[in-house]
Amino acid sequence: MKRVHVLNGPNLGRLEWRDSAQYGDLTLAEIESLVRARAETVGIELTWFQSDHEGALIEAIHAAIDAGASIVINPGALTHYSYALADALAMAESTVVEVHLSNIHAREDWRRTSVVAPAVTGSVAGFGPIGYVLAIEAIAQIAAGSAPGDQGPDHSA
Ligand code: DQA
Repeated sequence: MKRVHVLNGPNLGRLEWRDSAQYGDLTLAEIESLVRARAETVGIELTWFQSDHEGALIEAIHAAIDAGASIVINPGALTHYSYALADALAMAESTVVEVHLSNIHAREDWRRTSVVAPAVTGSVAGFGPIGYVLAIEAIAQIAAGSAPGDQGPDHSA
């Protein structure tokens, strides 16, 4: 069974206290339930993790790599400045999807840069919790070799 580790960065464990116009009304636990339901349907074994600490996220990336899992990561604000996360993600050989609840490209200037972007397979931003589901579905399709069309970059899950 395809394994996916979903990693969430700083402040994502407190969505209920954050700006709902940007991040929606669901808690991270509620998002996890949605994603788990979808993962089960598409035959993915899911590990879900959240930390407010950069080092813990780096270790979680190492663990995902060692487990041969694909990675879905919402690094929170670390997206914009953590070269350590970028270096860790760059070691991944499986698919890595960067997810953001909000559309970081339509927000403050400092949010428009993702330093992890060069180390990921692809990214989804601006679709709220659906972004995590889209990421899972992309990984499932790539793993099944059923991604529509082969004109895109060569991504092996
Ligand atoms: C975020 C966007 C980041 O800029 C912010 O710091 C977050 C959440 C998102 O999911 O939209 O914490 O990654």
